[in-house]
Parts: sequence; C-alpha cells; structure tokens
Amino acid sequence: MTEPVNYDVSILGGQAEQRLLSSFFVLYKTCRIIDLSNATFRRQLTTFMDHLAAVPNYGDITIKAVHDRYFVNERLVRFDDHGQSGASGVVAEWRRLGVGGVTLDIRVSPDEVASFLQFMATEKPSSVNIETLSAQLTAHGIPYIKLLSMKEAGAEDPTVSEEARRRFRLMARKTFVRAISVVQDIVASATNDKELNTARTKRVVHTLIDHIAQDESSLLELAAIKDYDDYTYAHSTNVCVYALTMGVRLGLDRPRLSQLGFGALFHDIGKVKLPADLIRKPDAFDENDWIQMQRHPMLGVKTILYNLKFDPHTARAARGAFEHHINRDFTGYPVLRHQRRPTNLFSQIIAIVDTFDALTSGRVYIKKQMTPDEVIRKMRYQMTVKFDPFLLKIFNDVIGVYPAGSLVLLTTDEIALVLTNNEHDFARPYVKIVGNRSGLLTDPLWVDLAGADNLERRIVRLIDPSRYGLDIKDFILTD
Ligand SMILES: [Fe+2]
Ligand SMILES: [Fe+2]
Repeated sequence: MTEPVNYDVSILGGQAEQRLLSSFFVLYKTCRIIDLSNATFRRQLTTFMDHLAAVPNYGDITIKAVHDRYFVNERLVRFDDHGQSGASGVVAEWRRLGVGGVTLDIRVSPDEVASFLQFMATEKPSSVNIETLSAQLTAHGIPYIKLLSMKEAGAEDPTVSEEARRRFRLMARKTFVRAISVVQDIVASATNDKELNTARTKRVVHTLIDHIAQDESSLLELAAIKDYDDYTYAHSTNVCVYALTMGVRLGLDRPRLSQLGFGALFHDIGKVKLPADLIRKPDAFDENDWIQMQRHPMLGVKTILYNLKFDPHTARAARGAFEHHINRDFTGYPVLRHQRRPTNLFSQIIAIVDTFDALTSGRVYIKKQMTPDEVIRKMRYQMTVKFDPFLLKIFNDVIGVYPAGSLVLLTTDEIALVLTNNEHDFARPYVKIVGNRSGLLTDPLWVDLAGADNLERRIVRLIDPSRYGLDIKDFILTD
C-alpha cells in the first residue's frame, strides 16, 4: 500500500497564508469576468504578488487542496465561508482535471500568473492528463508555475486516506488520554496549593491543536464519551477540545489557540476548592448547593493567580475562569453590579462549549443527560440572551446534525458510529458501521456516506445507545 502522504500540520498557517489564499481565489474569479488588462485585475494581481512575497520563508510556494482543506506550503489555512465558497468551485474544477494544487516558483512574474489564470480559468483546458496540461502550460510561456497531480498533493486514493485516518485516530486517542492525565495533575496540585507546571499543559494543548488542525473530528468523537469514571477531568478536556475546534474554525492563529486551549483546561479549576461531595453530588442541587457552586469562578481566579507563574496564558485563563458563567445579558454569575463590559471572546467560546458538554453529559448541575441535538436546540432558544449568536452558529456547525461520536441508524438497517462530519453535507458523514440486522460486526466497516458507492446508505435517525444496551466507548476506543 502507498505510504499515506504525511502533511506537516504541526504549524497552522497564519494571516500571511490566509491573505495569499484569499487573493489567489479572488484573482481566479475576477479573471473570468473582466479582461486581464483591466485596472481592477492588475491591482488584484499586484496584491497577490505582495502576499506571495509576504509568506514566511518566502521561496517556491505550493497551494493545494486536500479533502476540502487548503494548504500553503503544507500549512493548513482556514479562511472564512465567503473565501471558502469561492475556493471550492475552483478546486472542484481542478479535480476534474486531475489537479491537486500548484507550485509557484520564486521566479514567477505577474504576467506569468496572469497567463496561468487565463489558461486555467478563462480558456478552461479539457485534458485530464497532468503531463499534457503541464506541456500546455510550457507552450503558453508559463515555465515557473507547476501543476501538482492529485497524488502529489496527497488528495487521491481514498484507501490511503482511510489508512491515514485509522493511524491518526489512534494518535488522537493517545493525546486525549494524555490531556486527561494533565488535568488530573493540575487538579491534584491545585488541591494542595502547589505551584502548577504550565509547560506540560501548554505542550499537550499544542498537540491537541495539531490534531484538530489535521482532522477536526478526531477529538470531537472522543469528547462525545461522557461516562468516564471521573467525569470532572474529562469535562475540562472536552471543553478544551470543543473550544480549540471552534478556534480553528474562527481562524485564530496558533498563539491565540494556545491561550484559548490553556484557559479552557483551567476554566473550572476553582471547583477544587469546593467540597468534593458537592461536585460529585448525584442529586439535583438545592439552593445552598448553588450558592456554593457559584463561588467557583472567583475561586478559580485566585487559584490560577496564586499557583501559576504569571504570563499572558495565565492572565487569559484567569479571565476565562471568572467570566465563563456570566452570560451575555449578565444574568449568570458572578453578579456584576458595576463595570459591565462584554466578556472576552475566549470566555464566550468557553461558555458555549462548557454548557454543551455539561448538558450532554447529564453530570453537571442538571442531572439529566440530553442528546446533542436536544442541547443545541435548547441553547439556540437561549442564544439571544446567554450566548453570542454568531459563535453559537459556528459551534452548531462544528457539532453538526449527527455529531462525531454519535450512533446512527442507516436505511440499510445498519448501525454506524459517526466519525467525521461532512462540512458540505451534514447528512453524509464519514462513518464506521458497527452492526447490522444479525448483530454487532467483529470487523467494522469504514464508509464514506458521501462516496458514490454508498449513496443507497442514508441516515434514518440518531440512536440512543443506552436504549439498546450499547456503550459508545466500545466503538470509539476499539480498533
Ligand atoms: Fe464552570
Ligand atoms: Fe465547566
């Protein structure tokens, strides 16, 4: 089997790459509607050349698309929905031609970029043979722009990607477990008022970022497991995973993602200062319990400031701990009588994902487990008052209709575990079929419901695993 293409995602693209990619696809669109000598086009071309030169370590630059993800020099680039919709049309056109990306040589001139666009976007070549296409480019006087085949871009063989997915899931699982153990250590140190080791926490956050950058759902699936023995540790890890996934979608750069993830891991640290039997209380809270519980944001701030070395990460974390239950309309806690400033972006993200995880777990505050779609509906109902509507919409998209880690029934009477959401068609995610009419499969089947061979398989509905005596842990944590 071919070695899976291992794109280096240890680094996320920053603003320079985002700008380059956006201006590339804008140029592509413009050249279809106006003449290449037009002043608007020339201006956009100059902007593109400037962005090209502004990419860090400027040299030959490769732009490619791998399974709806965009890369500049192997750095994953997230850009807004508007940019994305322009890009996906171009990439679909490339795919029909067998093209996975382009490499622009450092010597490329603006005129050559214009000729390339004229050839690819306006004249629209018909050959699906990459060698023929490349020869045509040379014939058009375009020596410094090379086309990458789908294979070279790492976007080709679905079996390669499946193999890569399996390996990657395994690594993701290890990272997730490591994150839980980091939270355990944090809690142990904080309980005993010892200084906390932030270096290890930052390292694990960075590894989580790397995983999410490469495959958003790999960790969402793990966050869907709520029945750990000690849910307190898993909760902070889940909140971190959801928050980082949102951060990646929002296009935050790596330093900000690092601070967001770090803050998310510490958001409930104040609870270590509350009686353990309150935190683990199996029944619903009475009024006195609530009064106690509402102290945890302030206790969190104190714990962070006393036990952590002060730096931008800890400052942000303290703010997140303080603000994550305040609510947009200040109806939450702590109650602020004066100086009602809007809460920080990170606190708003944490507020949303924290509520979602708490409600879907049925462990925290409200002792009834709700399904992800019930929770999203409830949160949307409350959104105008409690949450930022834009952020809630992004989170809604992250979770999707059939969240990663949920079980679904298919029209073929098969039961499948949702692995990866399909951003373009929520009804057709990537799944693992774990059972059929005859019972559970010993060899689960990995299936892309968006694939041409699987169009007869459709999702009928979500399944509540407990009603069938199933435990999703068994499906997520095996293979
Ligand atoms: Fe909290
Ligand atoms: Fe929480």
